[in-house]
Amino acid sequence: MPEDLMQKVISLCKRRGFIFQSSEIYGGIEALWDYGPLGSLLKNNIKDEWRNRFVQKKDNVVLIDGTVLMHPRVWQASGHLKNFSDPLVECKNCHARFRADHMASGNFIGQGEAKTKNQCVQCGGKNFTEAKYFNLMFKTFLGPVEDESHVAYLRPETAQSMFTNFKQVQESMRMKIPFGIAQIGRSFRNEITTGNFTFRTREFDIAEIEYFVKPGDDEKAFELWLSEWEKFFTDMGLKKENLRRYEHKKESLAHYSKRTVDIEYKFPFGWSELAGVANRTDFDLSQHSKFSGKDLNYFDEEAGKSYVPFVIEPTLGVERLLLALLVDAYEEIKGGRTKTTKSAKETEAVLKLDKKIAPIKVAVFPLVKNKPELVKKAKEVFEMLKPDFMCQYDEADSIGRRYRRQDEIGTPFAITVDFETLEKDDVTIRDRDTMKQERVKIKDLAETLKKGLEN
Ligand code: GAP
Repeated sequence: MPEDLMQKVISLCKRRGFIFQSSEIYGGIEALWDYGPLGSLLKNNIKDEWRNRFVQKKDNVVLIDGTVLMHPRVWQASGHLKNFSDPLVECKNCHARFRADHMASGNFIGQGEAKTKNQCVQCGGKNFTEAKYFNLMFKTFLGPVEDESHVAYLRPETAQSMFTNFKQVQESMRMKIPFGIAQIGRSFRNEITTGNFTFRTREFDIAEIEYFVKPGDDEKAFELWLSEWEKFFTDMGLKKENLRRYEHKKESLAHYSKRTVDIEYKFPFGWSELAGVANRTDFDLSQHSKFSGKDLNYFDEEAGKSYVPFVIEPTLGVERLLLALLVDAYEEIKGGRTKTTKSAKETEAVLKLDKKIAPIKVAVFPLVKNKPELVKKAKEVFEMLKPDFMCQYDEADSIGRRYRRQDEIGTPFAITVDFETLEKDDVTIRDRDTMKQERVKIKDLAETLKKGLEN
């Protein structure tokens, strides 16, 4: 792992169109990031994999797409208005603001490490104001009147619309317990401390499932989901040794949780939460039933009785997963991988992303750009592949440089049209990881690539 891995990945993201600072021309805005052409393809591929695995391939999980703004009573019922807050302290010397829990541990996640606990990471001061609780929900107003009766909040998690829609989903889709409601959606948190690139931001996507079970079946379901969730991460390409579990102690559990296990990833700045699984018990449905006056009981025909289901919630942050995938996939080879050309003297970067999620699947090159017959043929191949694969055409610079440009963004396959192509109607396919080249007939190209991408 390169020492300054984080800086390298940040630089790659900007240089190659993965991630840009939001509103950069105005100096940027803290903890908000835009996903560029490659970053947004990568993010969509991650979401597609998630949907494919947890909705399409499951018989008992359905997808919804809820609103960001919900009835303000939702947040009273859920406990977010009262409990969704972080303790904020201010250094009396330099007026920097921190989360009290970060200050007490000496690890100001995202802001650095203090020499000792309870010391300001910026000026070394030791005098802080009393902790004040600061609600993380963004407040806005519905309609033109800005008064208390028109206040609304941007959702800090997607979970609540899966609870408020529980009955409608269950009845309209004729779901039987156990079943899950899945959602990927935008969530907003006015975080006190930010930093570490896209790790902790104020706007992000959560992908989560609310899995409704019979009370008593919750602990077993929790274990199953925890294993499934972990397997998803390794199947997406994260190295097993970079993942671990963190069991929350009773004192640090969220107000709704009976048990929470975080799945942590070994980011370059230390082990930090990537995802989690929580046992939310019947807390949310009971609360919404109480606050809305609606009966959210489920009648279990098999058991012959009604009950409020328990909920197991596997959750993950899409951007955090994307960041973990980038740092995990990044490899640098000093002196380069090719020993035969000038490039041997340079440092090469290869993004060994899983083929399923690579933003560009296939690059197409003419061997040289000053031979119109090669360019014409390469463009034909590009047009032929475009409907089936996310492709990029490139004719600038030497072929070695073009291979390296694609390696750096994780493109699994590069196709070169050369002089032999004109005679034999075949091309070379170069594999990103092995750098091996294979000649394939153009008529078999799409099929060969499809197979290669499945492996
Ligand atoms: N519904 C449960 C829930 O929202 P959470 O642990 O607060 O649980 C879910 O958030 C996931 O969202 C986390 O595991 C993390 O990956 C991601 N996440 C949380 N806060 C984030 C932030 N400020 N920026 C980016 N991702 C965040």
